[in-house]
Amino acid sequence: MANKETQPKKKSSTGKMWGGRFSEATDPQVDRFTESLSYDYRLYRYDIAGSIAHANALARAGILTESEKKKLILGLKKVEAELAEDPLSFRWVPDEDIHMFVERLLTEKIGPLGGKLHTGRSRNDQVALDLKLYLREKIAEIVSQIDLLSEAIVKQSEKQMGVFLPGYTHMQRAQPILLSHYLLAYYEMFRRDRSRLEDCKKRLNEMPLGAGALAGNSFGIDRMAVAAELCFQGVTANSIDTVSDRDFIAEFLSDASLLMIHLSRWAEEWVLWSASEFGFVDLPDRFCTGSSMMPQKKNPDVLELIRGKSGRVFGALINILTVLKGLPLSYNRDMQEDKRPLFDTVDTVQESLSLMTLLVSETQFISKKMEAAVSDSLLLATDLADYLAQKGIPFRSAHEIVGKMVYKVVSEKRPFGEWSLPEFQKHSPLFEKDLFRVLTPEGSIERRGGVGGTASASVKAAIKKARGKN
Ligand code: ARG
Repeated sequence: MANKETQPKKKSSTGKMWGGRFSEATDPQVDRFTESLSYDYRLYRYDIAGSIAHANALARAGILTESEKKKLILGLKKVEAELAEDPLSFRWVPDEDIHMFVERLLTEKIGPLGGKLHTGRSRNDQVALDLKLYLREKIAEIVSQIDLLSEAIVKQSEKQMGVFLPGYTHMQRAQPILLSHYLLAYYEMFRRDRSRLEDCKKRLNEMPLGAGALAGNSFGIDRMAVAAELCFQGVTANSIDTVSDRDFIAEFLSDASLLMIHLSRWAEEWVLWSASEFGFVDLPDRFCTGSSMMPQKKNPDVLELIRGKSGRVFGALINILTVLKGLPLSYNRDMQEDKRPLFDTVDTVQESLSLMTLLVSETQFISKKMEAAVSDSLLLATDLADYLAQKGIPFRSAHEIVGKMVYKVVSEKRPFGEWSLPEFQKHSPLFEKDLFRVLTPEGSIERRGGVGGTASASVKAAIKKARGKN
């Protein structure tokens, strides 16, 4: 195919790149309403990477000469360097979106040849590509952040080995557990989050470019070569679906929502734990703020904001689902509304993960307070029932017997620790001297062995597994 230098493009009456068929300039209010540059600016690196791959594809298809391709790529690299240097440059320009902005800067640098770049491409496949490139990178970053958090959790579990505290159900003291076991519960949640994100990343592995506006391209672009250049495993299979698809954003936002649920539950728990009523943790001063009026206050704002910001992420998920619901094929401008919820979620998740990692590493655990709480003898009621069940009576009967004993502890305000053997035996002749070995938080914890239990051997095995040493 011939590659004559393009004639300078005639400026349309509207000043827009698509302005040819319009008789008047767009209303300024419409410009403001429809622009996305103010927030899709952050896609510039991915947009330029896609453009470079596209320029290579156009050259392979004979649309660009080698020298045109080189000029284009050099121009794109210069644009990238300039944008990296001046991250606020988008603020002062009238372009509609990042794609138009980059193309205009390129054309200003290399002249009308810049206009050849959009051959066989539409902003519809371009934006799909940019989003996939962006998200692929962000997921990788988030996964490494999860790894750092997980490592911090495992380290703390190792350090806190041997500290007991009450485990809670319904926010009521339930049974003694190891603090390390409690911490590793969060490790498991983040491990699932990690695997969900890795899974989401797998479905980002199909390259959209070449779908054009919706029907494909007529320039014989070698899509597989573009995919290889941009490190995708393959290409999307249907051009209409390619420009309509934002499943990957909904999927990511859903994964991010679960991740934020985990962070938020944890934050809530530690907000409670830092209150004097619990006093289980002392948060580092540098992660807390004071009150403008009450001089004594040290507030756990970071945790509260992690809990609060989770709402934005769930909102983002509902936002994208609602945008997509009922959209006919293929691209519709509604889809431009995918970006703010996506970007906001990435920021929120990254900041929250990073702060939580610092918090888990630097928080002081007040083991004295935990151990005072765990010495509540009622936490051993289940062990007493288990003791009787082990001696052969049905667990239901054991539960009933111990229930009555608990009633006595509560009404007479005399903990089990103050009971004599005959007192126990009044409730069941099966109680014997060995009972007192059972009746300690440590005894209770150590009997719960096996995979997943709170016994120290089980927890040590879990730590070893988390360290990849099993
Ligand atoms: N800014 C648009 C978006 O983010 C890019 C695609 C626009 N396509 C179009 N034909 N107007 O969705």
